[in-house]
Amino acid sequence: MKNVLFAVSEAVPFIKTGGLADVAGALPKAFDKKEYDIKVMIPKYACCEHLNEYELVFEGEVDVSLAWRKQYVGVFSTVVDGVTFYLLDSEYYFSGPKPYGQIYEDIEKFSFYSKVVFEACKILNYHPDIIHCHDWQAALVPVYLKTLYKDDPLFAGTKSIFTIHNLLFQGRWIIDEVKDKTGLPESVFANGDLECYGEGNLLKGAVLYADKVTTVSQVYADEMKTPEGGEGLDNIFRFKGDNFTGIVNGLDTDEFDPSKDKMIFKNYDVKTFKTGKRENKLKLQKMLGLNEDKDVMLIGMVSRLSVQKGFDLITYMAEEFLTTSHSQLVFLGSGEDNIADKLCYLSNKYPGRVSTNVCYSEDLSRKIYAGCDVFLMPSQFEPCGLSQLISMRYGTIPLVRETGGLKETVEPYNEYDKTGRGFSFANYNAHELLETLRYAQKIFYDQKKDWDALVRKDMKLDFSWEVSAEKYKELYDGLLE
Ligand code: ADP
Ligand code: GLC
Repeated sequence: MKNVLFAVSEAVPFIKTGGLADVAGALPKAFDKKEYDIKVMIPKYACCEHLNEYELVFEGEVDVSLAWRKQYVGVFSTVVDGVTFYLLDSEYYFSGPKPYGQIYEDIEKFSFYSKVVFEACKILNYHPDIIHCHDWQAALVPVYLKTLYKDDPLFAGTKSIFTIHNLLFQGRWIIDEVKDKTGLPESVFANGDLECYGEGNLLKGAVLYADKVTTVSQVYADEMKTPEGGEGLDNIFRFKGDNFTGIVNGLDTDEFDPSKDKMIFKNYDVKTFKTGKRENKLKLQKMLGLNEDKDVMLIGMVSRLSVQKGFDLITYMAEEFLTTSHSQLVFLGSGEDNIADKLCYLSNKYPGRVSTNVCYSEDLSRKIYAGCDVFLMPSQFEPCGLSQLISMRYGTIPLVRETGGLKETVEPYNEYDKTGRGFSFANYNAHELLETLRYAQKIFYDQKKDWDALVRKDMKLDFSWEVSAEKYKELYDGLLE
């Protein structure tokens, strides 16, 4: 049995702001413990949820030095569905209503977190064969492993993998501050390993120092190697060669299952979806103050309110769409205020037809996945995307832009040979989105049998982690052979 430690800033069930937490919560469960025992190490934020539902065991404490700073950290453990979680407690760094705040604070917070990963292993006397790090918040782990901890016997032979879930966020900050906050030796900076275009860049460091780098779909991996998709780092992804690959995400199919989901109004499966989805739709409409109409096409979106997700396309064409067609829109999201304002404008102007919900709610998200007919994801870029997978599992047909993981997982519907899984458009253009919505409406309203067959097909797809976990296993095997 080999030990793999996930170093990650969020994981279901304790803290989630997006798909990263879904992945970190579900992927470890997909491994056979006899081969790889995956443990997960996250900060014990004050805003963590469900902590009181699990027994937390205090494992030890230590004062951790970070450059000239020194802070207490306590290590707790608990087991969720057979997976051990370590929670790192620091009131100084992990307080506050949200896990992330201002970037300058986060740089210090997650430098501390990355250092604590090693100190916690020491408290636990735990030797990880592989530390699998996720996103920029854990980007210093591969760098510390090969610098500050390279001669520590506990980490002898330890390898690192760095998985990029979103290249937009790189942990960039003023280089002198990065030097001060990370406590890394001067040689790292002399080589420019943590520097990009004159700025400090933690993610670049991880890409250079990790033994393997992955991202969450093959299409996004290819895009990252181009100047258009590389966010300024395309050359280093090309430079990584075969040590940089894409492995598409799976879904926790037990957690996301319309036949068992306790948060939806009525459970249903592939045989009962027609009545089941209808009831979910009518109750959702009632709950949100939308006109109760079982026949109208209800289009939903559950998303971080971020430019990444294509909201500018939606707000650009929404009024044209609403005034020329018979459909309803429901939005659930939190994030950027200017996007929230535009969505609220729509729901104020079109009451009964548009519902905007600016909040984070797992409960409402499930009701939207279950009650809608179409799920909208016109992303500017999308490393993988889990929402489109969830929506297909709930028989809600995704309408996406052909980018990254959306292109990889949503094959476009072809009404002639009945192939495909959803609707898609290629260019980042509001009228392409509008035309695609109109096409989806044509199938929904005029070709009901074809629509139902598509729902049935999507609900039967297998999005479980099995296939992708096997690919991660091959990656782990390759590193340890
Ligand atoms: P990203 O990680 O870029 O946000 P994904 O599609 O991979 O996008 O994952 C988003 C996850 O977060 C999904 O599980 C989605 O249901 C959930 N989510 C996003 N926004 C909200 C919200 N406001 N309320 C509840 N769940 C949300
Ligand atoms: C990121 C990406 C999203 C991906 C998720 C989990 O937040 O934006 O596309 O599905 O991470 O990998």
